[in-house]
Amino acid sequence: MSTSTTQARYSSLSIALHWLTVLLMVAIYVAIEMHEALPRGHALRRPMEDWHIYLGVILLPIAIFRAIMILRADIPGIVPTPPVWQHRITLAMKVYLYVLMIGNPILGWLMENAEGHAVTLFGLGLPTLVGESEGLAGVVSEAHEILGVSGYFFIGLHAVAALYHHYLVKDNTLLRMLPRSGKQDSAS
Ligand code: HEM
Ligand code: HEM
Repeated sequence: MSTSTTQARYSSLSIALHWLTVLLMVAIYVAIEMHEALPRGHALRRPMEDWHIYLGVILLPIAIFRAIMILRADIPGIVPTPPVWQHRITLAMKVYLYVLMIGNPILGWLMENAEGHAVTLFGLGLPTLVGESEGLAGVVSEAHEILGVSGYFFIGLHAVAALYHHYLVKDNTLLRMLPRSGKQDSAS
C-alpha cells in the first residue's frame, strides 16, 4: 500500500463502494437481528434469514474487489500526519474489516452447506463448497457468530475513530472518504 499527500481524497469509486458496503452491512445485521427477534412461525422470520444470506453473498465479490483495489491504490495521506502508532492501529483495523467482510460470507456459506442447505441468491443456486458435515457445521457456525458479533464493537470503534479525527483532531481523515461537494471542488 502506498500513500500520497498530493491526492486529497479516496477515488470516487472507493468512496462509492465504501458507503455501499456500509449500507449492505447495516442491512445484513438488521436482517439477522430481526430474524432472531421474531417468534418462531412468524411470516417474516424465514425471509429475514434469506435476506441476510442474499446480502452477504452480494457483499462478498464487492469486498474482494475493494481488497484488490486497496492493494493497488494510491491512498490519500492524512493532513496533518498522525503519529506512527495511530497508522499501525488504522492498518490493523482495515485488515480486520476486510477479514470480516470477506471471511464471514465465506463462513456463512460453508455453514449452510455443512448443515446440508444449498446457498441461493434470490432462488438462483450457487456452488456447494463442502458436503454435509455436523462437525464442520459446528465449528464454522461458532466462527461465523464470533466474527459477526465482534463486528458490532469494531465497526463502532472504526466509526467513532473517524468522528474523533473529524471533530476533535480536525484533520481530513473523514473528508477523504466523503463524496466531493461542488463548494469544495471550486475551493480546490
Ligand atoms: C459480512 C457478512 C455477514 C455478517 C457480518 C454476518 C453476521 C451474522 C451474525 C452477527 C449472525 C448472528 C449470530 C448469532 O448471534 O447467533 C449471523 C447468523 C447467521 N448467518 Fe451471517 N453474516 C454474514 C454473512 C452471511 C452469509 C453470506 C450467510 C450464508 C451464506 C450467512 C448465514 C447465516 C445464518 C444461516 C445465520 C443464522 C445462524 C443461526 O441461526 O444460528 N451469513 N450472521
Ligand atoms: C459497516 C460499516 C463500515 C465498514 C465495513 C467500513 C469499512 C472500511 C474499510 C474497509 C476501510 C478501508 C478503506 C480502504 O482503504 O480500502 C474504511 C475506511 C474508512 N472508513 Fe469505513 N467502514 C464502515 C463504516 C464507516 C463509518 C460509519 C464511517 C464514518 C463515520 C467510516 C469512515 C471511514 C473513513 C474516514 C475511512 C478512511 C480511513 C483511513 O484511510 O484512514 N466508515 N472503512
